Amino acid sequence: MSQPNQPNWVFGYGSLIWKQDFPFLESRPGRIRGWARRFWQGSHDHRGLAHDPGRVVTLIEAPGEVCEGFAFLVEPSVFEHLDHREKNGYQRLPVAIEFAAETVAGVVYRAAEGNAAFLGPAPAEAIAAQINRCAGPSGPNREYAIRLAQALRENDFEDPHVFEIEALLLQKNRSSSQGANP
Ligand code: SIN
Repeated sequence: MSQPNQPNWVFGYGSLIWKQDFPFLESRPGRIRGWARRFWQGSHDHRGLAHDPGRVVTLIEAPGEVCEGFAFLVEPSVFEHLDHREKNGYQRLPVAIEFAAETVAGVVYRAAEGNAAFLGPAPAEAIAAQINRCAGPSGPNREYAIRLAQALRENDFEDPHVFEIEALLLQKNRSSSQGANP
């Protein structure tokens, strides 16, 4: 059980894996059980706009599956920054984080089904088209998806959903640059 006023583990599975704009004491690869990463959360504050939201990842309950990512040990004061960064529908959820040799208590930012920005499932092609089109104050939605896929691959984390979206995005960019330079 984590203690108030003590450093606590936060499990990152999306942009937290590749964009650490917060101090941490330690980071380790880890996994959480019973969850799947999906591009089902809308983003109108970071990777899209109110009238044209982008898509970012959230966690969907998936018994029997594991979601791999990175856990960061952070001081309690860091949560103020993280709560603000993850404010568009994400809430802290207590979770057991498995490392190679031990399991620790921590939290994860999850955007639950039914939050105001939740978009839910869509065909992979439609998700990729939306991501390819959208951009917001933090930059292109495409960058979010590609950097996430790269970080997962570099760490040998498997995620067919993310890799499928990445492949579709790369294909779209190939065909648009071929179109621009016949
Ligand atoms: C996370 O990275 O753990 C939460 C979702 C996100 O910020 O992309």
